[in-house]
Amino acid sequence: MNIWIALVLTALAAGASAQDCSCNTMKWATCDGNPCVCYLMIGDTQKQTLNCSALIPKCFLMKAEMYRAKKGLSVRGVGGKPVETAFVDNDGIYDPECENDGKFKAKQCNNTEECWCVNSAGVRRTDKGDKSIKCDKLVETYWIRLQLTHKKVNSSVDKNALKTAIGQAIKNRYASFNPDMVKEVEYDPDARMIVVDVKKPIGERNTDLTQMAYYMEKDVKVLPLFKNEAKFAPLVGTQNLEMENILVYYVDEEAPTFTMKNLSGGIIAVIVVVVLAVIAGLLVLFFAKRREKQRYNKAQQRELDPM
Ligand SMILES: *[C@@H]1O[C@H](CO)[C@@H](O)[C@H](O)[C@H]1NC(C)=O
Ligand SMILES: *[C@@H]1O[C@H](CO)[C@@H](O)[C@H](O)[C@H]1NC(C)=O
Repeated sequence: MNIWIALVLTALAAGASAQDCSCNTMKWATCDGNPCVCYLMIGDTQKQTLNCSALIPKCFLMKAEMYRAKKGLSVRGVGGKPVETAFVDNDGIYDPECENDGKFKAKQCNNTEECWCVNSAGVRRTDKGDKSIKCDKLVETYWIRLQLTHKKVNSSVDKNALKTAIGQAIKNRYASFNPDMVKEVEYDPDARMIVVDVKKPIGERNTDLTQMAYYMEKDVKVLPLFKNEAKFAPLVGTQNLEMENILVYYVDEEAPTFTMKNLSGGIIAVIVVVVLAVIAGLLVLFFAKRREKQRYNKAQQRELDPM
């Protein structure tokens, strides 16, 4: 009799611990075993083991997303592809190469012959080149500007409460993120726009701003990556601010090295006009000089003639 009770209790305990074996920071994770191990499929036979006590590195998330998209698994909610608004990340998602610790490799090729260098957020910061392109090191993104637009609310938003609220919301939601790094919060009530600057000291390598930004991007544009898919809606005063759009700007410790190719059409047009004007000016000068010389030669000849 006692043996049965013991068995039932053991089974219950096992059931309970099995239930605890899940990954709160990644809804696509598969978890099993005792001790509990969680992983993410990033290829047909590739599993990436995860540390679910922290946010998952962006490089692993992008890999998983590419894999799921290839398999036709859901990556986003209904509505399909989100609008691509961030001007600094015009490339969008690619299949990245990750280091063992989840950092991006400095050089990325998306399984093609075309390669480029990325920053620590995995965003392209050079022109695209061929496979021989050199990326000396992974340049760190130390400053991220999140430009959020919130949905319409009933009463006006208390500007002063906003900074604390945003700091708190970020801290609570994005596991152990230091709210001191939320440096500046600006608010434009007419545009319903909240601009949040998240910055760490140059050279600091303990915090990764890019995970937080990526989770927030998904929170706003698509669906949360968290298991419970709870909305990101910071409580300001008495109302929850739901977000409807986000634009992320990246600032790296070293300036990116984009060239002409990435200049916008307008700037290229201006450069072309200026170059054409200079060439036209030079041609006019050249012909004027030549004509003068010809006239001078003729004059000389006329002077010589009578002799
Ligand atoms: C998992 O993440 C937590 C929180 O950042 C950290 O304290 C812990 O050392 C990590 N565990 C492993 C195995 O890396
Ligand atoms: C990477 O490759 C995928 C499919 O092969 C493509 O859809 C995507 O646009 C590529 N991304 C970049 C940044 O080249």
